[in-house]
Amino acid sequence: MNKETELLNQFHERATETNVDPNRKIRVGFIGCGWIAGAHMRSFKAMSDAEIVAAADLIPGKAKKFCEQHGVEGVSYYGSHKEMLSDKSLQLDVVTVCTYNKTHAECTVDSLNAGLHVLCEKPMCVTLDEAVAMRKAEKASGKVLAIGFQPRFDDNMKMIKKIVQSGELGKIYYIQTGGGRRHGIPVPYGTSFIHKDTGCIGALGDIGCYSLDMVLNALGYPKPLTVSGYTSDFFGKDPNYYKDHPEYADAFGVDDFAAAFVRLEGDIILDFRIAWAMHMDTPGDTIILGTKGGLRIPSTECWHGTVDKPMSIYHDVCGERVTTTIPMLPPQKSLFDMKIRVFLDACKNGTPSPIPSDQIIINQAIIDGINKSAKLKKEIEIIIPEI
Ligand SMILES: NC(=O)c1ccc[n+]([C@@H]2O[C@H](COP(=O)([O-])OP(=O)(O)OC[C@H]3O[C@@H](n4cnc5c(N)ncnc54)[C@H](O)[C@@H]3O)[C@@H](O)[C@H]2O)c1
Repeated sequence: MNKETELLNQFHERATETNVDPNRKIRVGFIGCGWIAGAHMRSFKAMSDAEIVAAADLIPGKAKKFCEQHGVEGVSYYGSHKEMLSDKSLQLDVVTVCTYNKTHAECTVDSLNAGLHVLCEKPMCVTLDEAVAMRKAEKASGKVLAIGFQPRFDDNMKMIKKIVQSGELGKIYYIQTGGGRRHGIPVPYGTSFIHKDTGCIGALGDIGCYSLDMVLNALGYPKPLTVSGYTSDFFGKDPNYYKDHPEYADAFGVDDFAAAFVRLEGDIILDFRIAWAMHMDTPGDTIILGTKGGLRIPSTECWHGTVDKPMSIYHDVCGERVTTTIPMLPPQKSLFDMKIRVFLDACKNGTPSPIPSDQIIINQAIIDGINKSAKLKKEIEIIIPEI
C-alpha cells in the first residue's frame, strides 16, 4: 500500500460484509430520481460490473421517466423506497439514496435493515439523532454505508490532508473555513433545497458540510466539544431576491447563512461561516494555522467543495519568512465516477466504507449543534453517543 492510501485509510474502523456474488453484476436500486440522481445514473451506467434494476420515487411516473431519459431498460419502478425494498424478487445488492435531505435517514436505515449496501448523498441527514440511527443500522447490518462527499477524491483536496498529516504545519490550533456565494440559492435546480419539509437545512447542509469535511478530514476528524452557532434567512425570505419567482420567498424555510465558533478536541478552534447569498464576494479563505506553518486555501466564487486556485504555505525557513505556493494538480475525469467506483469496490470486496459514517457523523453533529445553538442563542455542548 502506498503512503497516500495508507493516510486515507487510517480512519477506517473495520471490514464490512459483502453479499455481492462475484459471478454476476451488482444489482443497483435508485431511491429518489431527481436532479442529483442524474449524476449517479451516468456514473453507475459507466461501471461495467453494475446494472440498474430498480428505481423508486414518490412522484408518480418520475422513476420511469428518469430511467427512460437515461436510456436504461428492464428497470422495475416503485412509488416509494419501502415498496422497492419489500420486493425481494429484485435481489438488490446496493441502493443509492438520492432523495432530499429530509428522507436520507429513513431511506438509509430501511435499506441497511433490508441487508443492502447504501450510498447516501450528502449531507448525511438533518439531525444528529438521525445520524446516530444510520450508524446503528449500519453496524447492525455489517453492510457498507458511504456518504456522498465526492470532493474528497479531488487530488487538490487530498493535498490538504497530506500537508496537515505530514506535520509540515506543526500542531494545528486554529481553522477558519466556510464558503459562500453572492447570489447562489440553488433554486434553478428545483425547490426541494429551500423547503423546510424537504431540505430542512439550507446552506449549512448543502455546502457547509463540504467546508467542514475539507478541514476535518484533513485533521482526522477531531470530535467537537462545544458550539456557538448563528443562522439567518434574510435573502431567502426576500421576494426581491428572486426575479421571476417572488413566491419562492414564502416557500423558503431554511437557512441561507450560518456562522459558528466550534471548540474541537485537541484544543483546536474552528471558525466557520457559510452563505448561499450575501453582500460580499467571499466570506474569506480557508486558513489552517499551526505552530510551524499556516496553510491558505483560497475561497472560490461559487463554493461547492472544490479547490480552484493554488494553496500557499506560510512558514519560516532559516529564520526567514517564506511563502510556498502549492501548484494546482490537473482536474481528474469525474469525481462522481470515483465516488461510485470506490463504493462498489467496498461492496464487492467487503472492505471498509470509503467515506465512512463514523467520520461524517461528526460533520452532522456540528451542523446539528449550530442549528440548536442558533435557536437557543447561546453556546451548547456537543455530545455524540458511543455506537
Ligand atoms: N454530491 C453532490 O454534488 C450533490 C449535488 C446536488 C445535490 N446533492 C444532494 O442530493 C440530494 C437530492 O437533491 P436533488 O436536487 O436531486 O433533489 P430533488 O428534489 O431533485 O430529488 C429528490 C427526489 O427524491 C424523491 N424522494 C424523496 N423521498 C423519497 C422516498 N422515500 N422514496 C423515493 N423517492 C423519494 C423525491 O420525490 C424527489 O423526486 C440532496 O440531499 C442534496 O444535498 C448532492
